[in-house]
This record gives sequence, structure tokens and C-alpha cells, in this order.
Amino acid sequence: MKELTIAMPKGRIFEEAVVMLKEAGYNLPPEFDDSRKLIIEVPEENLRFILAKPMDVPTYVEHGVADIGIAGKDVMLEEERHVYELLDLKISHCYLAVAGLPDTEMNEVAPRIATKYPNVASSYFREQGEQVEIIKLNGSIEIAPIIGLTDRIVDIVSTGRTLKENGLVEYKHIVDITSRLIANPVSYRLMHDRISEMTDRLEKVVNG
Ligand code: PRP
Repeated sequence: MKELTIAMPKGRIFEEAVVMLKEAGYNLPPEFDDSRKLIIEVPEENLRFILAKPMDVPTYVEHGVADIGIAGKDVMLEEERHVYELLDLKISHCYLAVAGLPDTEMNEVAPRIATKYPNVASSYFREQGEQVEIIKLNGSIEIAPIIGLTDRIVDIVSTGRTLKENGLVEYKHIVDITSRLIANPVSYRLMHDRISEMTDRLEKVVNG
């Protein structure tokens, strides 16, 4: 039987996702807790894990090099990849928000927004009927208004600590985010039994 390949997001979601898989009864080796390996084979479970940058998980799954994956809803909204969303894992709760320096108005003529999520940010401001210039950054987004690069940011808020410690405030809550189990449509058909078994086992953990 062909092994099932899972794209896992490195970073914040990773630990919670591993705990969840373990709770679902998957026997994962200690390598998962402390390793720099990018591919981890688990022959006992007939599983293979690809450890990816969170934003790249839907790309691997869309191209079929991973059969399934775990991706934040933020990444799904930004990337709009052709993949199936199988299950809300209800982990890594956070939300996307518009934030900026307190008591400031956006520049009326050419407001600028810094974000790691240019597609989500453009559609949000388009829906609000506001014309903005999006400046794509790859991290430390909160710096942008402080150093005068942009009027606002669109970024993830989890505990709110980063905003607070950098003297920023939230202006609008855009959308709640959790992590999702996703699948490549062809794999979903060809490996249906294995994928739905995993979905069912994870769903039981989600529902406690
Ligand atoms: C994310 C996000 C915020 C922060 C929010 O950044 O972009 O900066 O976490 O979390 P908080 O509300 O709990 O403070 P991340 O740590 O992923 O790093 P980044 O700067 O590379 O985006």
C-alpha cells in the first residue's frame, strides 16, 4: 500500500498538529519533537511527512506531492489553491485584523497597507470600497506603521501581545482563523479509505 504523504506547517501550528495526530492514535517518532529534518518517514504508520513553510502547504497539496496537509485558513484564503478542505481542526485560533497606530486616520489620498496577505487585504479593502496600495512584507509587519512605511497593517492577531508591545491598536476584525485538514482532489479519490479514516480519527479528537 502506498504511503500517505502529509504536508505539515513548520512553526506555530506544528506542535498543536502533532499533539492532535498523537491523540488520534498515530504513533509518531521522537524526531517530531526536535529535528531539522524536512522529510520524516514513519513506516510503522505508512506515513511520510513533509515539513513546509505554512504558506507553501496548499501548494504542495495542489500539486499532489503531498496527498493531504494541514494549513491555516489564513493561508487558504490567501493562496486560493485547488484543494479540498476536509476538516476544521479547531487548533491555532487567531484572526486577521486591520491595525495601526492609535488615534490615526488613514491617508485620504493614497492609504498604504503592509501585509503578508496581499490578496486577502486587497479583497477586504475592495469590499469596503476603499482604494489602497498594498505593500507586501514577509514578517515583522508591525514595524511598518511605526517607521512610517504604511498607514495600517493587515496581520494575524493571536494573543494580541505583538500589537500591544509595539504600541499598535486594532481597527477592524476581518476573519477568524483556525487550521484545516486539506487534500489533493486526485489523492482524495485514489486514497479515499486512508484519507477518510484519518479525517474520522481527527474529527473524533476535535469533538473531544
Ligand atoms: C505572527 C503575526 C503577528 C504575531 C501575532 O507573526 O504576524 O506578528 O504572530 O501574535 P500575537 O498576537 O500572539 O502577538 P509570527 O510570529 O508568525 O512572525 P512574523 O513576524 O514572521 O510574521
